[in-house]
Amino acid sequence: MPRIAMLTGGGDCPGLNAVISAATRTLQDGGAQTVGLLDGWKGAVDGAMMELNRDNTSHIIGQGGTILGTSRTNPYKKEGAVEKIKQTFARLQIDGLIAIGGEDTLGVATKLYEGEKIPVVGVPKTIDNDLSATDFTFGFDTAVNIAVDSVDRIHTTAASHHRCLVIEVMGRHAGWIAAYAGICGDADVTLVPEMKVDIDEVCGVLRKNRARGKKYNIVVASEGITFKEGEFVTQQQELDSFGHVRLGGIGDLLAKMIEKKTGYETRAVVLGHLQRGGSPTAFDRMLGTRFGVQAGRMALAKDWGKMAALRGNDIVAVPLNVATGELKVLNDDFRSLVDLFSR
Ligand code: F6P
Repeated sequence: MPRIAMLTGGGDCPGLNAVISAATRTLQDGGAQTVGLLDGWKGAVDGAMMELNRDNTSHIIGQGGTILGTSRTNPYKKEGAVEKIKQTFARLQIDGLIAIGGEDTLGVATKLYEGEKIPVVGVPKTIDNDLSATDFTFGFDTAVNIAVDSVDRIHTTAASHHRCLVIEVMGRHAGWIAAYAGICGDADVTLVPEMKVDIDEVCGVLRKNRARGKKYNIVVASEGITFKEGEFVTQQQELDSFGHVRLGGIGDLLAKMIEKKTGYETRAVVLGHLQRGGSPTAFDRMLGTRFGVQAGRMALAKDWGKMAALRGNDIVAVPLNVATGELKVLNDDFRSLVDLFSR
C-alpha cells in the first residue's frame, strides 16, 4: 500500500483544506495511506506529521487556513535540511509527496524532484494568482471578494465625509487582486505593480472627478506598486528565506501625497491579512477540491514532477518547472482595463 504525504507551504489561503480533504479521499479510495507533514517544509525536515483520514478531513472544506499548518521554511537555505527531508521520507516510509503552495513552495518541490529525485506532485495556491501554467489559483477568488466587499463599504464612509480613501491590497508583484478590487469596487483610480505610478496623474484624475460633481474619491493600490522614480515601500529591510521583501505601507504614503497635492482630506486602509482569512468561496472550495482529486490521481499513477492546473474549465497536469519558471503578472488586456478605469 503506497504511503503519500501532503504539506502546505508559504502564506496560507482559503481553499487549502478543500485540497487536503479531496486528496485524502481520492488516495484512500485508491488504496493509499495518507499523512500530513506539519508546517510546510519545516515538517518535512523535522519529520513532524499527523495521520490523515476520512474522519479528520471531513467537514473541513469550509474552513479557512490549513489544518496542517504552514511556514516559509526554505530547506535550500538551511545546512543539511535537504538531507533531513530524505531521511524523513525513509523513516516515515513515504512513497510520494503532494506539495501545496505558491511559487516558493513549488520552487522547492521542483528542485527536490529534479535534483534529488524525490517523487513530488504540486498543487498551486495563492491569493496573488501569480502562478504561470494555471488560469487561476484557489484563494484568489475569496481574497478578491473580501477586497471588493471592503471597497464597497469604504465608499459609504468616504462619501459621508467627502474624503479620499486609499485602500492597500496584497498581491506582491502581481496586480490581480488590485485590478479586480479596483474595477469591481468602482475605484476612481487603480494602481498595480505592472504600471509605474505617476502621482501627479493620479491627483489629476481625482480632481477631474471632483470637478464632475463627485464629492469623494477611492483609490485602490497594490502593495507592490512603484513610482516612476522610486522603489518599493517595505516594512523591513531584510529579505525572507526566499529572497522576498516584506511589502506594505504604500497606502499611508500615497494618502499623505494625495492630501498634500490636492488638499482633500485623505485616509488609508490596509486590508492586509484579512484578505487571507476566513471561509473560502464556493469557487475556491470547488477549485481546491478538483485540484486535490487531480493531485491524488497523479500520485496514485506515479505521475511525478507535475502540477495540477486549471486550463479553461479543465483540470490538467503540467510540468512543475513550467509552473514555477515565471511569475504570471497582468497581461495587456487587464492592463488596458486598469488604464481605462483609472482615467
Ligand atoms: O503571497 C501571499 C501574500 O499574502 C502576499 O500577497 C503578501 O505580500 C505576503 O503573502 C505576505 O506574507 P506574510 O504573511 O508572510 O506577511
